Amino acid sequence: MNYQMSETSFPAVDTEPGHRAYTPGLLKWYDLIVHGFSNRWLWHCPTARLQEWFDQHANENHLDIGVGTGFFLDRSKRLKPGQRIGLLDANPNCLAVAAKRIERLNPEVIQANLAEDFHDRADPFQSVSLMYVLHCLPGDVDFRSQVIDHAAAILLPGGTLFGATILGEPKPKGWLGRRVMASYNQKGIFGNQQDTQSSLEDVLAKVLQDVQIEQVGSVALFAGRTAT
Ligand SMILES: C[S@@+](CC[C@H](N)C(=O)[O-])C[C@H]1O[C@@H](n2cnc3c(N)ncnc32)[C@H](O)[C@@H]1O
Repeated sequence: MNYQMSETSFPAVDTEPGHRAYTPGLLKWYDLIVHGFSNRWLWHCPTARLQEWFDQHANENHLDIGVGTGFFLDRSKRLKPGQRIGLLDANPNCLAVAAKRIERLNPEVIQANLAEDFHDRADPFQSVSLMYVLHCLPGDVDFRSQVIDHAAAILLPGGTLFGATILGEPKPKGWLGRRVMASYNQKGIFGNQQDTQSSLEDVLAKVLQDVQIEQVGSVALFAGRTAT
């Protein structure tokens, strides 16, 4: 495993609450809470649909940003030993858990914050995923645009940027989903109060071509590609 550590950076927007929550203890329960319960009962988007989206867009030179436990990577039918796979996250706990889980794929590991420019930290990739990361970030559309710029900058020309994010508006249909989302936003675990399908589309269209967005429950599945 090739483990790169970054210099500490001090982004203008405080992104720490969105990644510090992922302690080794929480990561043990993460898959059950998020992919076993919340997707279905709070956000009304089946985990199988998210996996399908991931497998549809990831290719043999792929970078996953915001790795969590490596859930989609581990279950992916597309990723195979011998291909190139990168893991990028601000939180070293997540990188350690995900890297161990997909050890068989010999991942390149990069500790970096989406708020910073990291394109020179690795050779460019052909696909980049942001699965359930954007809703963890604070800030407005301008910060979202900056983050998408950073993620797209590490792609090859014609490369695919894709992912899924939980929208703040319209609010989840169920009472429990609305309560949990409000509480996560209060704690800074989510920062998605201003996120709508149309704000996401505007942000993506500034940087990517052929933008597609599909909304399933509260989740927007998105993809687009960089210019050739
Ligand atoms: C909700 S988890 C998603 C994990 C995984 N992609 C999944 O769908 O199961 C969010 C991930 O994004 C990472 N993250 C949050 N804010 C970040 C930031 N500013 N820069 C880089 N990674 C960040 C967290 O550390 C965590 O690994």
